[in-house]
Amino acid sequence: MLEIKNLHVNIDDTPILKGFNLTVNRGEIHAIMGPNGAGKSTLAKVIAGHPSYDITEGDILFDGESILELEPEERSHLGLFMSFQYPVEISGVSNFQFLYHIVKVRSGDSLSEEDFQKQLQKIIKEMHIKEEFLERDVNGGFSGGEKKRNEILQMALLKPKLAILDETDSGLDIDAMRIIAEGVNRQHTQDNALILITHYQRLLDYIKPHYVHIVKEGRIIQTGNHELAQQLEETGYALC
Ligand SMILES: Nc1ncnc2c1ncn2[C@@H]1O[C@H](COP(=O)(O)OP(=O)(O)OP(=O)(O)O)[C@@H](O)[C@H]1O
Ligand SMILES: [Mg+2]
Repeated sequence: MLEIKNLHVNIDDTPILKGFNLTVNRGEIHAIMGPNGAGKSTLAKVIAGHPSYDITEGDILFDGESILELEPEERSHLGLFMSFQYPVEISGVSNFQFLYHIVKVRSGDSLSEEDFQKQLQKIIKEMHIKEEFLERDVNGGFSGGEKKRNEILQMALLKPKLAILDETDSGLDIDAMRIIAEGVNRQHTQDNALILITHYQRLLDYIKPHYVHIVKEGRIIQTGNHELAQQLEETGYALC
């Protein structure tokens, strides 16, 4: 589904990703771990199409086609989704209208507000999101954990083929982590795929990855399974 080939990315002539390779197949869950500043969020943003990054070498293929020339919204329409490490607040736009609009556009503009409400009510119940959050501005004054939950609500509504969750677990209380993990697991099928960027092995107790990759200085330096994450918890990154 996703193939990242020898990706080199600069910011203001400073190399951040230096030969990044990753293949993600349908049905797979990949965890990406690594020290602060290793390039994990950069990778997520480059896949999503953030304009600030210069791709100097390599390619990103999604379902066999290069997506480097596509705008972020075109990538989204192909089924890519990214949950931000730091979700932005959008004042003046109600969360309900925002969610309704993105799902309506995706469904070819034919979705009625009534039908959307039905979908939405089911999901907010499952995710323990209070109705009042729909009336507020997008992420407006939401706590850190509430913003993360709102990201997963978007994901549940958009049903992406490939979701990249950038530290969705950071700042969540124990119950919220479980609720979000259950939400993510409910959405995972053999037809979609997931990349989880995380610092903590704990999330991987709830969402079981097929592969764990360690990123250091802009490339993957080690790949293993769940045990690699447990081992990291004990040794840190010094031995990688
Ligand atoms: N817009 C930017 N301008 C300058 N440097 C940047 C910019 N964006 C990222 N960087 C640098 O690129 C490097 C990688 O950053 P990135 O956010 O990808 O790290 P990360 O692995 O996600 O770290 P963390 O675990 O702290 O979230 C860092 O050294 C960062 O300072
Ligand atoms: Mg980051």
